Amino acid sequence: MRIDPASPVPKYAQLRDLLLDWIEETQLSVDGAIPSERELGVRYGLSRMTVRQTIDHLVSEGKLYRVPGKGTFLARPKIEMSLRMASFTEDMRSRGFAPGAQDLARRVEAARGHVARMLDIDTGAPVHHIERLRTADGEPMAIERSNIPLSVAPGLAERSLSGRSLYQLLEDEYGLILDSGEQTIEAGLCDPTDARLLGLPPGSAVLLLQRRSFVNGKCVELAISTYRADRYQLHSTLDPRQ
Ligand code: GLP
Repeated sequence: MRIDPASPVPKYAQLRDLLLDWIEETQLSVDGAIPSERELGVRYGLSRMTVRQTIDHLVSEGKLYRVPGKGTFLARPKIEMSLRMASFTEDMRSRGFAPGAQDLARRVEAARGHVARMLDIDTGAPVHHIERLRTADGEPMAIERSNIPLSVAPGLAERSLSGRSLYQLLEDEYGLILDSGEQTIEAGLCDPTDARLLGLPPGSAVLLLQRRSFVNGKCVELAISTYRADRYQLHSTLDPRQ
């Protein structure tokens, strides 16, 4: 396949497709090197600037990564974000990663504004606020900020969460089996504090999740989370009857 100079598709975009095909056909392994910008320029008869534009795009999409002075390499595939009720622990285990959690903050505070409304409790009612850095095989993946009304899980503040699933704890100790939920996911930019925790440059793209989980129609958790957009992608199956 060659670059078609008569095509209305810009040359950098044609090169993008050619490069992705080449990666598939050669079954390039993760961390494998792609040809240098100079080689690609010669191979496809393109200027260095056009080649760089293509690679910049693929790097910003998270498909490739650069190592200064060494070259450009194939990145790991992104993790498909679960659109099920699964806990982080279950989700990571099902993908063969070891889940982890590092406590960032835990306190009981008075619910205000958005949190009170989303949990459907009175303003000022006490809530457990739990912030955790979630990891997969030790690598930071997300920051989860959970809010749980004190009334649904009294004494939760005294229970250790280290190495433990919050959902499992709610089930084992409070008999709370989550039976429905709703979730919104939107794109955002990472603030400097979260960026430092996630090991990302400030202002990196992230996915902002808000999940409300229910037991018998009562909202028991409002989680507001920041997920790395360079490691996650959304995937859903589509059914025309739904
Ligand atoms: C998911 C949900 C969070 C929830 C978490 C519990 O990531 N988005 O709302 O707090 O799972 O995970 P775990 O049970 O592993 O602590």
